[in-house]
Amino acid sequence: MSRQITCTPPAGDRSYVIEIQHGSLKLQAAYLASLAPRIAIITDDVVADLYGQQLQKQLQQHKLEAHLFTFPPGEQHKTRTTKEALENQLFEKGLGRDTAVIALGGGITTDMAGFLAATYCRGLPLVMVPTSLLGMVDASIGGKTGVDVPYGKNLLGAIYQPKRVVIDPATLVSLPKREFANGMVEMIKHGLIANSEFLHYLETHVQALKNLDSEGIERAIFESCMIKKAIVEQDETEQGKRRLLNFGHTIGHALETLSTYQLAHGEAVAIGLLVESYFSMRLGLLDGASLIRIKALLQQYGLPLKLPAHYSPQAMLDAMAMDKKSTKGKPRFVVLEAIGSSAECEGHYCMAMEEKLLIDGLQWMNDDLCRH
Ligand SMILES: NC(=O)c1ccc[n+]([C@@H]2O[C@H](COP(=O)([O-])OP(=O)(O)OC[C@H]3O[C@@H](n4cnc5c(N)ncnc54)[C@H](O)[C@@H]3O)[C@@H](O)[C@H]2O)c1
Ligand SMILES: [Zn+2]
Repeated sequence: MSRQITCTPPAGDRSYVIEIQHGSLKLQAAYLASLAPRIAIITDDVVADLYGQQLQKQLQQHKLEAHLFTFPPGEQHKTRTTKEALENQLFEKGLGRDTAVIALGGGITTDMAGFLAATYCRGLPLVMVPTSLLGMVDASIGGKTGVDVPYGKNLLGAIYQPKRVVIDPATLVSLPKREFANGMVEMIKHGLIANSEFLHYLETHVQALKNLDSEGIERAIFESCMIKKAIVEQDETEQGKRRLLNFGHTIGHALETLSTYQLAHGEAVAIGLLVESYFSMRLGLLDGASLIRIKALLQQYGLPLKLPAHYSPQAMLDAMAMDKKSTKGKPRFVVLEAIGSSAECEGHYCMAMEEKLLIDGLQWMNDDLCRH
């Protein structure tokens, strides 16, 4: 079954369709031909072997001039240097404004190829083709593109909307389990902040989703994309409501940093979801049974919820001081009122915690989740 979502960012005619369908990767030639006569497929080396070369051949069979550009996988390659090397390769092929970019891969690829598309010849048409679950439900929607610099993640970039997002869930068969779990965390986050029925769906379809049952996974991706699109349509540049998408990430980012990336993003955010739910409980909003439910769900999808070491509250506070929601170095957190409902906090969609509660929560995290 094919599912479509129209995403309409505020101001200007920049709406685009998110298409979710098994096998959709193979059905894009006519659409791409309508976009531009020349195509630059940008992907990492892993995804190039799995799907990139195949896509290039198909497009060539449809008489499109399709080129494949690749870079090594991994966050350490999401840099200006990689972007520059890719740009030089496009210039060397003589590609100009008559070219469309296909960003084929995980979130690293969609972020970096998206940023390249935003700046190359002052902007080329962009089609996002996410192949990781995280890319499908998170990174390819909302227009944020960018690269990392030594000063921090995603600090250089642009808001640049694609012409279309093509999601082919069939590509998930080759995705490693740990990467699948990373994507599930963002889906669970979407359910927690905005839709209790969707969260219930995730609770009751664990095996089907892990087995990539085609109807189940399409539906889950659809619902998850609907939640993200509804938020980014209201707040493209993260002045307010888009902050909700940061649920779990204030703690999560600090853990990624302190563990020197031993914890994958999804693993760190899973712990973040739990600790930030704990704050919500201690504020008297979320009930204790919901906290237990959230923990169980994360575990069912294979999230270990284990800290590799003890992280002192002070080290966590220091790591959170630079969080984008912080004011005067004090972290602010998205808060749940119940499963599926987040607090507006007078239009800020996040709030500061009292020092004691903050320390208690961080202590609870260490006591409950530390391996040692
Ligand atoms: N723009 C946004 O709004 C946004 C939102 C969330 C995350 N992000 C960014 O996304 C990035 C993380 O994305 P990610 O987790 O997808 O990482 P990723 O792009 O590195 O993909 C994960 C790994 O899976 C491999 N892979 C991808 N698809 C595959 C498939 N179908 N089969 C086999 N292997 C496959 C990749 O080669 C890579 O090794 C981060 O850089 C983060 O900043 C951006
Ligand atoms: Zn995330």
